[in-house]
Amino acid sequence: MTDSRLDHVAVHLPDDHAARALAKDAREGLSSNPKTLPPKWFYDARGSELFEEITRLPEYYPTRAEREILAARADEIAGLTGACTLVELGSGSSEKTRLLLDALRRNETLEHIVALDVSESALRDASAALAEEYPGVQVSGVVGDFTEHLALLPGESPRLVAFLGGTIGNFLPGERAEFLSTIRGVLRPGEWLLLGTDLVKDEETLVQAYDDAQGVTAEFNRNVLRVLNRELSADFALDDFAHVAVWDADNEWIEMRLRARRPVTATIADLGLSIDFAEGEEMRTEVSAKFRRERVAGELAAAGLTLEHWWTDVAGRFALSLARAE
Ligand code: AVJ
Repeated sequence: MTDSRLDHVAVHLPDDHAARALAKDAREGLSSNPKTLPPKWFYDARGSELFEEITRLPEYYPTRAEREILAARADEIAGLTGACTLVELGSGSSEKTRLLLDALRRNETLEHIVALDVSESALRDASAALAEEYPGVQVSGVVGDFTEHLALLPGESPRLVAFLGGTIGNFLPGERAEFLSTIRGVLRPGEWLLLGTDLVKDEETLVQAYDDAQGVTAEFNRNVLRVLNRELSADFALDDFAHVAVWDADNEWIEMRLRARRPVTATIADLGLSIDFAEGEEMRTEVSAKFRRERVAGELAAAGLTLEHWWTDVAGRFALSLARAE
């Protein structure tokens, strides 16, 4: 499935991968009880823009907190890892990635940047920009799913794999364990994982971060219905659904849901499905887990990764973990 037409970008997904995956996820999730949809389907062009907007909201602290940690620690991370290759899970277009890359360049070890993303267009733009900004550094884009295509990552040792933003919180505990073992399987002993995790804190701060006053997160949440309408010829009316963000104290995660404001029947023409929602019925659209240090250390250790450094922002809201493969 590798496509060598492309310069820096290797494609490990067939053209219809996303369409088939969405169809499968929608069929399964909308037929289950309670109904669920995986959060990865928020991120079409509009959803990605809405997420960018979320990162600038006063209530949404994780992006700023993680940037604060990286700004303070990037040189230390470069010195500790001596990484030649930075592998970014995600397109690598962010300002946060550049903090790391600049530090590795100052450390005079940076040779290769590898970005893995499901979106070929995001990856092409990011790879082109990175190649221009880091002359002399090899840039490889890999179009793939970071739950499936990690084994294919290129790069010279020692590699530093960065999984930032707290996105690991979108996995359920079993998926997280599997993901971390897969990462460990890809790394050679002595290579590194840099992991961003949002931390457990008071409920009010957490809920506001996922239910902002301007309603941007509500729009982001409902955007998944727009994606179903466009990609699967569904007929959801967005204003039939209210945005809900709740803190699940037992599981220590935020759940986003869409709640039917009235009885709803939606047709998903491409799937030949008709789906009923009772008034008040809630569909789960995202889990965003929050962590404590002991849990992060324990889950890393279970996967064969040793937590060597733990850094938080000054306010203690978010953590960056540097773990070494044994
Ligand atoms: C991109 C997965 C880290 O869980 O905080 C933001 C997505 N959802 N607001 C998160 C998100 C609602 C975000 N991640």
